[in-house]
Amino acid sequence: MKKLTAIFLSLMMVFSLAACTSESPSTPSATPDSSPSESPQASEPASTPSSSAAVESEPQPETDAETGKTLVVYFSATGNTEAAANYIAEITGGDLFELEPADPYTNEDLNWRDEDSRVVYEHDNPDARDVELVADTVENWDEYDTVFIGYPIWWGIAAWPVDTFVEANDFTGKTVIPFCTSSSSGLGASGQLLAELAGTGDWQEGHRFSSRVSEEDVRSWLTGLGL
Ligand SMILES: Cc1cc2nc3c(=O)[nH]c(=O)nc-3n(C[C@H](O)[C@H](O)[C@H](O)COP(=O)(O)O)c2cc1C
Repeated sequence: MKKLTAIFLSLMMVFSLAACTSESPSTPSATPDSSPSESPQASEPASTPSSSAAVESEPQPETDAETGKTLVVYFSATGNTEAAANYIAEITGGDLFELEPADPYTNEDLNWRDEDSRVVYEHDNPDARDVELVADTVENWDEYDTVFIGYPIWWGIAAWPVDTFVEANDFTGKTVIPFCTSSSSGLGASGQLLAELAGTGDWQEGHRFSSRVSEEDVRSWLTGLGL
């Protein structure tokens, strides 16, 4: 009987050992799923470090674009360039800044057919074109990264009251877009001459509108610029 019990116990031990050995292969295969090296990988997309990195890096360009404002600066003696400036400001959401000569031009002053008029005198005497403005600097100038500059064409160039503003300001880091109105002349070298006078800024080619500029004219130009 003792022998039988011993045999029975031995058999039980053999079966028990066999059972242990058959479970052990499943243990290593389960280990990688929960191993320390793989668990972080599986949870990385939702983990704090990677999501906070995304939060920190993504908004930066958006913030830069949002703080870059548009300014529409213009001089207008008889209202045509002012109309264009108003359309540009309305469409782009930009701020307006009118250049006003301290000594405003009267209709008589503007009569280019009269050789005794103020504009003819200033045209013939470049030293007299140094027109003082009511204000030649803009509040919060640094906030603007796009500056439109508008003027009428006088004798083929930008009406000179604009020169005073251009000389008084630093356009570094700004995109500058000239625009003008005229009876028939083109933009010509007016924008380029202003860029040379400024000496700073990224001056674009610019655009000439007719004296009777319409909102549609301005809108289609701005659309072409991607603005
Ligand atoms: C003194 C003076 C000179 C001008 N010279 C030109 C010119 O050379 N070429 C042109 O096409 N128009 C010329 N014009 C017409 C103006 O450029 C045009 O009427 C412009 O739209 C006026 O803009 P504003 O109303 O904003 O002052 C001249 C006008 C004035 C008063």
